[in-house]
Amino acid sequence: MEIEGEQRDYSTDVLTQGDKNVGVDLQLHPTIGRISGFAPTFIFQEIMRTVDLIIKNARQLLTLRSVQEGPRTKDAMEDLGIIEDGAVAISGNKIVGVGKTKDILGEIRTTDKARVIDAKDKVVLPGFVDCHTHPVFAGTREDEFEMRIKGKSYHEIAAAGGGIKSSVKTLRSKSKEELIQLALPRLDRMLSYGTTTIEAKSGYGLSLEDEIKMLEVIKELNRIHPIDLIPTFLGAHEIPEEYKNNRTEYIKLITEKMIPEVAKGKLAVFCDIFCETGVFDIEESREILKAAKAHGFKLKLHADQLSALGGSKLAAELGAISADHLEFVDDDGIEKMKEAGVIGVLLPGACFGLGIKEYPPARKMIDRGLPLALATDFNPGSSMTESVPMILSLACLMMRMTPAEAIAASTINSAYAVDKRNDIGSIEVGKKADLVIWNVQNYKEIPYHFGVNLVDRVIKEGKVVREGKSVANP
Ligand code: NIG
Ligand code: FE
Repeated sequence: MEIEGEQRDYSTDVLTQGDKNVGVDLQLHPTIGRISGFAPTFIFQEIMRTVDLIIKNARQLLTLRSVQEGPRTKDAMEDLGIIEDGAVAISGNKIVGVGKTKDILGEIRTTDKARVIDAKDKVVLPGFVDCHTHPVFAGTREDEFEMRIKGKSYHEIAAAGGGIKSSVKTLRSKSKEELIQLALPRLDRMLSYGTTTIEAKSGYGLSLEDEIKMLEVIKELNRIHPIDLIPTFLGAHEIPEEYKNNRTEYIKLITEKMIPEVAKGKLAVFCDIFCETGVFDIEESREILKAAKAHGFKLKLHADQLSALGGSKLAAELGAISADHLEFVDDDGIEKMKEAGVIGVLLPGACFGLGIKEYPPARKMIDRGLPLALATDFNPGSSMTESVPMILSLACLMMRMTPAEAIAASTINSAYAVDKRNDIGSIEVGKKADLVIWNVQNYKEIPYHFGVNLVDRVIKEGKVVREGKSVANP
């Protein structure tokens, strides 16, 4: 959320109920230095600054604090760094204190401006980082949903003019402003389910002009909405209709025009590709991704989703930051990704949405030491959900990830998957104050109690941006 100029105000309408501003201003005690572990931790330089917000009495505060270099793997995925009766002190948009409530409250001086939120009988988590989404699109595709129920496959629907190409047609007919208006309520829904940062892909434009249009829409959404959007160029999502008999020309358009233009405009951080049988093969994917790398993009791949084409190995070969989907990844792919430090981003919403029985082999990947992240893959074709909690339920029930592993995968490991490990994904001093208060007694209830919204409040960069719609547990 880069704040410039006029901005939609999300804070005023939600600040009228719930915990009142108690009229105290809190200052950290001037003599406290930085202490590690579960004692209160403060930034020394921050200690004389005003604390604007304090969250206290959390039944469980899931800090996801650093336990190892790099994203979490194996047993470390189970370690959520839980503080019982925890508190967080926030100054401006940053976390300045984390610890037990009595320690945090005991070590601050109060004046009269800060807001205090009592999280008694609630659980506090870092905001979710949804590290793979396609949130900018025009038409919905519920007819394809019904076709799939009646037995048609993803490829059959695409061949009949549905699939990505149908989204390309509708997107091209819309203006930037129309696309922004269509995307805003989707971002609102994401926020209401506890997501505070997303990665957002282009890929429904598939012409120079329309891909740039999508990336500019993402840039504007980032500016006006509380959610942070990290842009990814996905010009290689499909071969557009007008190039169907000339795929070499389209690949040339991507490598020689789109990639340089997107790089020049600094419109994307990552370059992604749909590396799949019938879409872009391994050779084509290598060529496109190498061109992107040469222009400074970090790489992501839709890999081994519908067939074992070998996208996971290509991700390792090219040093991609992540390989996403991985339903059909093989042992060699897992090993090569691990050696190359590629994060596996699993998207069980796409399996569920497509009615596919093969979910990615999450247990095997965790056992082999591959770091995993989870994301919605929110898109109108295969995964029409903005809800990370829904994804956690699917990860637990369909891939046998534990609730703790699923939460680590959707917070700190997702932060690694978008290259933001120093800013977000955990509740640690110095990171952005992106926090979610949950109306549950134990974090395990979040995936267990599926299909409902248990979020109590969402705090984005120190501001309460969503508040109090759900009903507390009896
Ligand atoms: O991640 N796999 C490719 N892309 C999307 C589907 C996009 C669409 O069908 O519109 C996915 O599942
Ligand atoms: Fe996707």
